[in-house]
Amino acid sequence: MQKEKNRVFIFDTTLRDGEQSPGASMNSGEKLIIARQLEKLGVDIIEAGFPIASDGDFDAVRQIAREIKKCQIAALARANKIDIDRAWEAVKNAAHPRLHTFISSSDIHLKYQLKKTRRQVLMEAIAAVKYARAYTDNVEFSAMDATRTDKDYLVDIVSAVIDAGANTVNIPDTVGYTTPEEYGKMIAYLFAHVKNMGNTIISVHCHNDLGLAVANSLAAVKNGARQVECTINGIGERAGNTSLEEIVMTLNTRKDIYGLYTKIKTEHIFKSSRLLTQVTGIPVQPNKAIVGANAFAHESGIHQDGLIKEKSTYEIMKPQSVGITDTHIVLGKHSGRNAISQHLKKMGYVLTDEQLNKVTARVKEMADIKKDIYDEDLEAILYEEVYRVKDKYTLVYLNVVSGNVAIPSATMEMQVGKEIVRDAGFGNGPVDATFAAIRNITKTNYSLMKYVVTAITGGSDALGEVTVELRFNSHSVIGRGAHPDVIVASAKAYINALNRLEFMKENTKKVKVELIPEIR
Ligand code: KIV
Ligand code: ZN
Repeated sequence: MQKEKNRVFIFDTTLRDGEQSPGASMNSGEKLIIARQLEKLGVDIIEAGFPIASDGDFDAVRQIAREIKKCQIAALARANKIDIDRAWEAVKNAAHPRLHTFISSSDIHLKYQLKKTRRQVLMEAIAAVKYARAYTDNVEFSAMDATRTDKDYLVDIVSAVIDAGANTVNIPDTVGYTTPEEYGKMIAYLFAHVKNMGNTIISVHCHNDLGLAVANSLAAVKNGARQVECTINGIGERAGNTSLEEIVMTLNTRKDIYGLYTKIKTEHIFKSSRLLTQVTGIPVQPNKAIVGANAFAHESGIHQDGLIKEKSTYEIMKPQSVGITDTHIVLGKHSGRNAISQHLKKMGYVLTDEQLNKVTARVKEMADIKKDIYDEDLEAILYEEVYRVKDKYTLVYLNVVSGNVAIPSATMEMQVGKEIVRDAGFGNGPVDATFAAIRNITKTNYSLMKYVVTAITGGSDALGEVTVELRFNSHSVIGRGAHPDVIVASAKAYINALNRLEFMKENTKKVKVELIPEIR
């Protein structure tokens, strides 16, 4: 990666740190779908996962590394041989592989978590970078909890890992503790005191615990950092990470202040955000900057009046620049396969014949119940019919009886692996009865933490979108389903959550820190 004075590299960690959001676990097929979209979006680096964490993570990184050609693919590893070997095994077939190794540097982490001295950590950091460099000349090092690290010790670590061969050095605000002023000064301090900085790219990785992740990242680039680690919709551990769309659009909109640029194709931002929501089930708050439903909606009469007279009165960015079009062109009962295909192409989706047949069938089915089909409806169909990876459980048949005199009941047939299983359930209402039937069929009984119904588009015939959260021990998963009938949408969401739980149970393997030998 060649450092250019004014270019900021975008390191997307949606598939690694983003996946650490509660409920955001994705299977390898889903990760691949997101990775393809990130490639279209033009991110420079995709952090595809943490291969030592689970076999599922390893497979996802390997598949992404094999398929994605235009981005660098990074795999995360702690500063030890076993992690680095595993990360390299996963990423080695990439066109542009990167190894990203990390160790904590703050005294708090050293004393309470690692129980190591500063000297030990320094030696391990050097050894890890050298070990990684034997595999590739593209190595990133992160000093975890850098913002709570003694700044002269941080200078020592950064200087040492650069000497050992790291080309990118990341200064994470792991706990979201810093402020723009403090962080900007810290980055400036490193540039002033690290004598061998040369062409090293200083990277920033901010968490949003105080709501300052984007502001902190901007302060860092103002002071010389040239890689920003971020995620779509700002998802990530706890309060999340720096939001990709916010950082990119700030740099784009305020070139007068920053004088910097990225190579992001901003017109793919909105679609990336929607796709991530479809895949993870994690909705975007309506007032979220850039991608929220209200981000470009002007409610006040004075604002609307100004906009009619001249857009720049109240609009600092064009919705089209992030891929929001006002053309909610509708399809309906009479739209043929060709019209659907043309419309999907305009939206940026090119399908195979078989995929197009499936989508056309669903559009026709939906058009019998719902008059107009909007872009958002099409995306929901696309995700369910084309992109969703084959699951253990699928819905075959559902019949629900409810009313003010009936005891709500649901009769249901599901495919469980290769078998078709039929059962019924009773409940307080039709949704409760449906969930009872699913529990009987799947012989599961997880706690239902959340049940939310929203309408994707307006009107009483709108597609209902249901989000369900299930809890298993300390983990929670989110499932989503969309259908004009909210009971069917609810069943689909519950089944989607169950499939995600199955995936998580199979793939979550506890990493035993104490078993991993240090590098000497
Ligand atoms: O927040 C953090 O410090 C991290 C590192 C692994 C880069 O995610
Ligand atoms: Zn992080």
